[in-house]
Amino acid sequence: MSAVPIERLAAHAGETVEIHGWLYNRRSSGAIHFLLVRDGTGLVQAVAARADVPPDVFATIGTLTQESSIVAQGAVREDRRAPGGYELSLRDLRVVQLAAPYPITPKEHGVDFLMDHRHLWLRSSRQWAILRVRAEVERAMCDYLDEQGYLRVDTPILTPAACEGTSTLFETPYFETHAYLTQSGQLYSEASAAAFGRVYCFSPAFRAEKSKTRRHLTEFWMIEPEAAYLDLDGCIALAEGLVASVVARVLERREPELRALERDRVPLERVRPPFPRITYDDAVERLRAAGHPIAWGDDFGGDEETVLANAFDRPVFVTHYPAQCKAFYMQPDPGRPEVVLGVDLLAPEGYGEIVGGGQRIHDLALLERRLEEHRLPKDQYAWYLDLRRYGSVPHSGFGIGVERTVAWICGLEHVRETIPFPRLLNRLYP
Ligand code: 4AD
Ligand code: MG
Repeated sequence: MSAVPIERLAAHAGETVEIHGWLYNRRSSGAIHFLLVRDGTGLVQAVAARADVPPDVFATIGTLTQESSIVAQGAVREDRRAPGGYELSLRDLRVVQLAAPYPITPKEHGVDFLMDHRHLWLRSSRQWAILRVRAEVERAMCDYLDEQGYLRVDTPILTPAACEGTSTLFETPYFETHAYLTQSGQLYSEASAAAFGRVYCFSPAFRAEKSKTRRHLTEFWMIEPEAAYLDLDGCIALAEGLVASVVARVLERREPELRALERDRVPLERVRPPFPRITYDDAVERLRAAGHPIAWGDDFGGDEETVLANAFDRPVFVTHYPAQCKAFYMQPDPGRPEVVLGVDLLAPEGYGEIVGGGQRIHDLALLERRLEEHRLPKDQYAWYLDLRRYGSVPHSGFGIGVERTVAWICGLEHVRETIPFPRLLNRLYP
């Protein structure tokens, strides 16, 4: 008999089916065992009555430990009170492996303990829900960009130079020389955009972030669209469409997961265009009015972003940041060269920046000057400068972080649960 995924049991009501899974939990009361079985697609309650299964099987079920792997056969019965609306009346069960005492029990565990057991923690229903939302978010992002005519063009992980400042580079030996793990595929995507018009890359990014915050990982995933002949407004419209469609997709397709996470859907249902837009200058005024002293030119931290975002019921774009707090490639505002045509998108409910991007410098001389001002080695950027020599055009793009987006959509306290194996300042295991 081939196995039926638990999430598809509804289609087999009344039939006898086989499921391949693991024991999540067991309660027994004399003549009846209640098994909670998971198979990766969902959870189902399987009920074994003494009268319905062979006596040796009934006895074996009584000895099953948490996470034992089992092959179970039973009749699918509708039951409104059951988690997925269906229950299994067991007829037979085979133990594939009787699990050793499982370290993660239904009692409360500390975060460090759970993180040390991340390879097992992934099996719990909360992690199940989060990582299924993550997969949906990733797919929705790619689908949206594909539909908009963006071509996925991959970018390298090993790179000779920095994209986002030299202070967070991970260096690694590279034969006779050294390389850096990529901080962003952007510079390469700019080359791809000149070749293919509209492109995106989807890759891990690495930052030696010394900060221990709830939104920083040292390894995270980012999708970065980049388009030739796109200005700041076009870039904002693309980010708005992308974020709105990703949230709508999760609401539509991941209802059981959001329910498992007890995520309030109402704030997510409001995430529809148009998103409000403010400038950096407006933002500084708002912060000062709220009692946050901030000097013009300083970048915003998590606290400032929360104050700003709390004034709106959907994500808010902040544009025209001071050149001094942004990367070397940002195009200056032609009317006000001390600010750049850059944009961040701040998520509501305290989640802060999920998107960063803007319009890039397309003038060769200006870009050369900026490399010097930022003390970046010009020889390593020769190829990047070439893009301004051969058919240079205004172009824009942004990066959206998968983990921060998932943390927001799932309503989580920390990004560490949004990635299967998080890499943090103090964590490289498992
Ligand atoms: O704002 P960032 O640094 O922008 C760039 O890397 C640009 N080169 C992107 C581009 O224009 N193509 O990073 C973009 C996004 C952030 O808004 C955030 O969502 C995520 O990447 N991010 C991080 N996520 C988790 N941990 C970190 N340490 C992150 N750093 C950035
Ligand atoms: Mg940023």
